[in-house]
Amino acid sequence: MLADLRTIVDKAAASAYAVAAFNVFGYEDAYAVVQGAEQLGSPVILAANLNAIQHMPAPVIGPLLKCIAERASVPVCVHLDHGKDFDYVMQAIKYGFSSVMFDGSQLPFEDNVQQTREIAKAAHAFGVSIEAEIGSVGYSDPAVNMKHQLSDPVETASFVEQTGVDAVAVSVGTVHRMEAQSAAIDFARLEAIQSKVSIPLVIHGATGVPDEVLGKLVTMRVGKVNIGTALRRAFGRSLREEMERRPDEFDRIMLFQAPMDSVKEAAIQKMRLLGCGRLS
Ligand code: G3H
Ligand code: ZN
Repeated sequence: MLADLRTIVDKAAASAYAVAAFNVFGYEDAYAVVQGAEQLGSPVILAANLNAIQHMPAPVIGPLLKCIAERASVPVCVHLDHGKDFDYVMQAIKYGFSSVMFDGSQLPFEDNVQQTREIAKAAHAFGVSIEAEIGSVGYSDPAVNMKHQLSDPVETASFVEQTGVDAVAVSVGTVHRMEAQSAAIDFARLEAIQSKVSIPLVIHGATGVPDEVLGKLVTMRVGKVNIGTALRRAFGRSLREEMERRPDEFDRIMLFQAPMDSVKEAAIQKMRLLGCGRLS
């Protein structure tokens, strides 16, 4: 069933699990993720980022993900990941996303507050939940020219109060697109943030978080954990192996079976680490 972000993430933040938000790029990985969530009886978030929407425009991927969500036996939120401006976010809402993120993390604080507040007001007018980011979760790829800045607890509280967002992404040590699970989480900072903020916290770049640290994160007021690279690696590696194993096969439906299974298994593994396996 199609779910609102707030409904599933508020509950997770108050409990010892977090909802996984997996970056998906089309039917194959989205369907595999939902199959994994159904196997665990867990809610899940399908997150479409700019790369996904450049590959498959919002009028196509929005209804596709919404349809997959509506047919699922578990709550599935269809979420826009890292939206960069008002029109882009509004377009996602128009095409069926049940939740959006506005990422003003590269802007000066006051501009981030002002733009986030305006977009939050518009999203809420359509009954859509909104996540925003304070501080900035950087990128491990030096070619991505974005700043990395840890979230300040006092600034985070002020940002949440002024913008009225439903969930806030904080920068506490993770970096996007890490392949090694070696991110060092600043738990003292996370604790200081959660003592000042009452809405669910979101961790981005969680592919780089060690398994045991994921288990600790969910005991805090973390309600949503974003994972992208881990699933893209699972799909890509499996597809490469499959093509080597079956050099004469040219039918994509046949070639995609193993990568879809790999994505499903990788998603289940991460959801279990996030405490979702205990929900069923
Ligand atoms: O917004 C998406 C995520 O933060 C994914 O990050 O690819 O490093 O897991 P990741
Ligand atoms: Zn992210």
